[in-house]
Amino acid sequence: MAELKRRAAVLISGRGSNLGALIAAARHPAYPAELALVLSNRADAAGLDRAREAGIPAEVVESRPFGRDRAGFEAALGARLEAAGIGLVVLAGFMRVLTEGFVAAWAGRMINIHPSLLPAFPGLDTHARALAAGVRLHGCTVHFVTPGVDEGPIIAQAAVPVLPGDDEAALAARVLAQEHRIFPAALAWAASGAARLEGGRVVLDAPMAGGALANPLPGGAGLPTEIP
Ligand code: GRF
Repeated sequence: MAELKRRAAVLISGRGSNLGALIAAARHPAYPAELALVLSNRADAAGLDRAREAGIPAEVVESRPFGRDRAGFEAALGARLEAAGIGLVVLAGFMRVLTEGFVAAWAGRMINIHPSLLPAFPGLDTHARALAAGVRLHGCTVHFVTPGVDEGPIIAQAAVPVLPGDDEAALAARVLAQEHRIFPAALAWAASGAARLEGGRVVLDAPMAGGALANPLPGGAGLPTEIP
C-alpha cells in the first residue's frame, strides 16, 4: 500500500518536537502520509537531527541570505519540494511568513500548527498573551494555510485549562502535549482526504467530540456541582 501514501514535506525552523510526533505516527503502516522530506530555513534547527535519525532526507534552505526577497527564498524552497515529488506541505514551527503566491500554489495542500485556539491569539507569544488576557481555556489549532497569517480554515483543535500559578513555560508545555496529539491526526486526515478544503471551509469525515471542557469546574466553594 506504500504507493498510495501522500508524500509530505515537513518545514521547520527549530526544535522539531512536532516533527518528532509526526515521525512517530508515520511509522504506523496504515498512516496515509509518508514523511518524504524535512526542510529547514535554519541550519542550526535541532529538528534536522531528528529527521536524519529517522532516515528522512533533511535539507536546509537558508532564508537569511535572501533577506527581504521572500519570493526568491520560496522559489528555492519550491524547487526542493518539486524535486522530491511532494504533494502535501506541513508547517511545524516554521517561522517564515509565506507569500500569497506560494500559499496559492499549495492551496488545500498545506497545513500549519498554531499554539492557540484560533482565531484567538494569532501571531507570536501566544501563551504570554493568553495569560495576560486571563482566559480559562487555551490550546492549539491545525489549519489549512491561507494568505492571512494564522487565519486558514480549521481542521482540528485541542483545548487545555489555564490553571492558577501557570507561567508561560507551564502553559506552553500543556499545550505542546496536545499539539503532539492533534497534529499527527490532522495530517492523516488531510493526507487521506478525510479533511479537505471545499469552498473555503473544511469538510471533515472524522469522529467529533461529545461533551465539553469547562474550567473552572462547576461546584467547589461548598456549591453543588449541578449549578449551571
Ligand atoms: C509549536 O508550539 C508550534 O505550534 C509553533 O512553534 C512551536 C514549534 O515547536 N508554531 P517544535 O519545533 O515543533 O518543537
